[in-house]
Amino acid sequence: MKQEVRIEDIPAAELIKSAMEARKKSYAPYSGYQVGAALLINELRIYTGCNIENAAYTPGICAERTALYKAVSEGKRRFRAIAVAGGRGEELQYAFPCGVCRQVMREFVVPGEFVVIVAKSPEDYKIYSLEELLPESFGPDNLSR
Ligand code: THU
Repeated sequence: MKQEVRIEDIPAAELIKSAMEARKKSYAPYSGYQVGAALLINELRIYTGCNIENAAYTPGICAERTALYKAVSEGKRRFRAIAVAGGRGEELQYAFPCGVCRQVMREFVVPGEFVVIVAKSPEDYKIYSLEELLPESFGPDNLSR
């Protein structure tokens, strides 16, 4: 079921600042592309994450999944929004979540109700529902018997 996102309920600037702060912890010596993410959970706490690369390349993980897995591993599975701050050096780009991260978000949320913010700064950002970024998705419901 598709539902509207209540964008006015999301503290976008605060989430973006947290993502920018988390980005400072990024370990990205191979790509040089640093990403931070801030995940707002239902109880209005923020879990942050950064990308973590690896010399063997494939074990690397995105900032968004770091934040999601931190929350899930602490028993949190109900999420409202995620902000992403990414880029090389000082200047941020609009860093859209990769397909794998979108699919991981989709596992835990109703796509029409989850907000994704891609930010260059707390004042300059784009805001989407997960439904817009991952339409017609495959999810847990497909496997329910
Ligand atoms: N990356 C993220 O952390 N999130 C994204 O949304 C896109 C890509 C990371 C993975 C890798 O460490 C680097 O950015 C370059 O792809």
